[in-house]
Amino acid sequence: MTKAIRYYSKFGHTRKMAAVVADKVGVPAESIDQPITEYVDVLYFGSAVYATVVDWRVKKFIKTLTPDMVGRVICFSSAAIIESNYPKVKELLEKQGIKVDERQFTCRGSMGPIQAGHPNKADFDALASFVESTLE
Ligand SMILES: Cc1cc2nc3c(=O)[nH]c(=O)nc-3n(C[C@H](O)[C@H](O)[C@H](O)COP(=O)(O)O)c2cc1C
Repeated sequence: MTKAIRYYSKFGHTRKMAAVVADKVGVPAESIDQPITEYVDVLYFGSAVYATVVDWRVKKFIKTLTPDMVGRVICFSSAAIIESNYPKVKELLEKQGIKVDERQFTCRGSMGPIQAGHPNKADFDALASFVESTLE
């Protein structure tokens, strides 16, 4: 089973989360600047929400994905206010014909004083457990 990790991080939270994922999955965490060039069975995909929307760079990256290059996506994310950006990211991926795992991870991510300190150690530990539960 081949695996890859891609993430977009404006303020560093998703980058740290991707490092936790990489530690468990055993492949490098790479930003969405690195295109998917070889078929992967599972793509771990990290993103966040800014000013209520999915960043245009994330949308642009998703548009480069095709079902013949990506078997399935597992999403991880953080947010300060909304429950998760998962429904929106899932919708965008499914528009590309990509299979999206129902299992996803979202934790709190600080926005100034809102949810200050998140993602914290407990969040990273929960992410590590989540990723372990997805490994086959
Ligand atoms: C400028 C800014 C705008 C944000 N807008 C939202 C928002 O609309 N809704 C929300 O739930 N979280 C919002 N957040 C929280 C981010 O989703 C959260 O900080 C996330 O962890 C950022 O990930 P990153 O550090 O990888 O960029 C915002 C954060 C910032 C700094």
